[in-house]
Amino acid sequence: MDQLKVTVRTGNYLAVTFITFIVSSVMNLTKEAWGSRLGLILAMAGNSVGLGNFLRFPVQAINNGGGTFIIPYLVCFLLMGIPLLWIEWSMGRFGGRHGHHSTPFILNSMSPRPLWKYIGVFGIFTNIAVAAYYCYIESWTLSYALHSIKGTFSSLSQSSVAAYFDSYTNLSTSFFGIPSEAVFFFIVCVGINTYILSKGLAGIEKVAKIGMPLLVIFGVFLAYKGLTVGTSAVSEQFPLASAWDGLNYLWTPQYDSLLRPGIWLAAAGQIFFTLSVGMGTIHCYAAYIDSKDDIALNASTAGFTNEFVEIVLGSLIVIPIAAGYFGIDWIKENMSFGMAFQTMPFLFNQWGEILASLAGVLWFGLLFFAGITSSLAMGTPWMGFMSDEFGWNKIKGAISFGALVLALGLPCVLFYKYGYFEQYDYWAGTVSLVIFALAETILFAWIFGLDKGWREITTGADIKIPVIFKYIIKYVTPILLIGVFIGALITPVKNNWIDAFKSLSNDGIWPLDGQSLLLQISNTEMYTALHNAVDPLVIESIRNEIFYTNIARLVLLILFVGITTLVYIAHKRRTQEK
Ligand code: TRP
Repeated sequence: MDQLKVTVRTGNYLAVTFITFIVSSVMNLTKEAWGSRLGLILAMAGNSVGLGNFLRFPVQAINNGGGTFIIPYLVCFLLMGIPLLWIEWSMGRFGGRHGHHSTPFILNSMSPRPLWKYIGVFGIFTNIAVAAYYCYIESWTLSYALHSIKGTFSSLSQSSVAAYFDSYTNLSTSFFGIPSEAVFFFIVCVGINTYILSKGLAGIEKVAKIGMPLLVIFGVFLAYKGLTVGTSAVSEQFPLASAWDGLNYLWTPQYDSLLRPGIWLAAAGQIFFTLSVGMGTIHCYAAYIDSKDDIALNASTAGFTNEFVEIVLGSLIVIPIAAGYFGIDWIKENMSFGMAFQTMPFLFNQWGEILASLAGVLWFGLLFFAGITSSLAMGTPWMGFMSDEFGWNKIKGAISFGALVLALGLPCVLFYKYGYFEQYDYWAGTVSLVIFALAETILFAWIFGLDKGWREITTGADIKIPVIFKYIIKYVTPILLIGVFIGALITPVKNNWIDAFKSLSNDGIWPLDGQSLLLQISNTEMYTALHNAVDPLVIESIRNEIFYTNIARLVLLILFVGITTLVYIAHKRRTQEK
């Protein structure tokens, strides 16, 4: 009898286990979710920590005067970055609770007005367009890491390393007999992204758990080298060497910058790009969080991790190492995001053969991990949207994303020298972010309502957010965003606002800069150059540039309209189902 009871009990137990197993595996099939809190934070930090931290930040900091840049940058982080992180995380979790994983219908669930779901198109559009050129840079890092192992750069002079980069982007280098190395690595890179994305959130989480710690370890090693170069490189070859000058230039705050809107604009742009706000990726990741889970602390942790990597690691590698050999004046003149590829391998050579290839692998490996954890994030809004609205599974979602990135990215690879790539970066990677961030802040604070919004942010919170942020989100953040937008629209000549106001009050003329949004749209700078050019070769190349610029914009427009159409179809299907 007793034995029978035991058997029955075991039988029950087995049945329950079996049913639980079936139910949980079916749920796993249908419901994506993050595996652990650590995984979520690392994935979110991986989304933010990207090429922007190591390639864009040093350039922005140096070009905007070093110490003059840092204060506006930190203020923008506190008054725009952090509030936007909380807004986006809570919008995402709110949308996820209603079964939405991409911005069109997340925004739609917050306001009944039909307009919002079309504003949400930005949150898919930006990601695909940015992924197209971002994966291209990511593929350089992959190739350069392999070349560092192979020793390609080991005996090259500074000008040869720079020339190598030019021939790479001109598609004239080959890799083990495969021509057009740049195209080859681009395809490989998109392939890797597609494969990982096809594994869903679990794949992303795994890459973040491996990539993020490695990135920090590599970064700490290189930063240690950066800090210890000091003035030891002074020699006949490097008479001006001083790593300290580089660091002092960056870290001596200059308060007069507070009155220079141009620097504020650059600082705000960097904060957006580096934190990945205004893009729709954070909403998507947050939509997979359980509705009672914390977001206040998680968002802050991911945001501060990004800032640590940017301010500490991002400023302790390229700048001090380059200043440690060439001196600060050289950097001020030559700083560009290509320097990481054109100069760093040569400088590593100064450390002896073995350390040079090690440093090369660590540097380009670090960039690769930084890049891939961000480009994976860019795939998720599209996949989430197609899955929610059209029932596409992960594999279909990932492959279609890969195909889109290839189609939009190949012209970036092929027409790199005509500035095709910069158009994507400007319209999708800069302008769109500000427009979307402004729209979502207004929706969150003024239409959805800050009382409800504040409840969203604080529900499940593991930290107490200072109440002052309620007012910051309602007034300060949107006003700053409007300021940034207007500033970009009418940027005056050389970003010099004081002279521009003088000219306005004296002659009634606002001198627009070629970089202002208004003059960019009309290609004014290029037409002026064309007008003044005499050399037929120069004329030819400007004509090409204008042509490819317009094609790039047309492609972006088609992408935007395409996604808008999908949102419209999805909306129709939803209303018919009801
Ligand atoms: N924040 C990333 C960086 O610093 C870039 C990035 C991540 C991004 N996700 C994005 C850019 C989505 C546009 C869209 O490099």
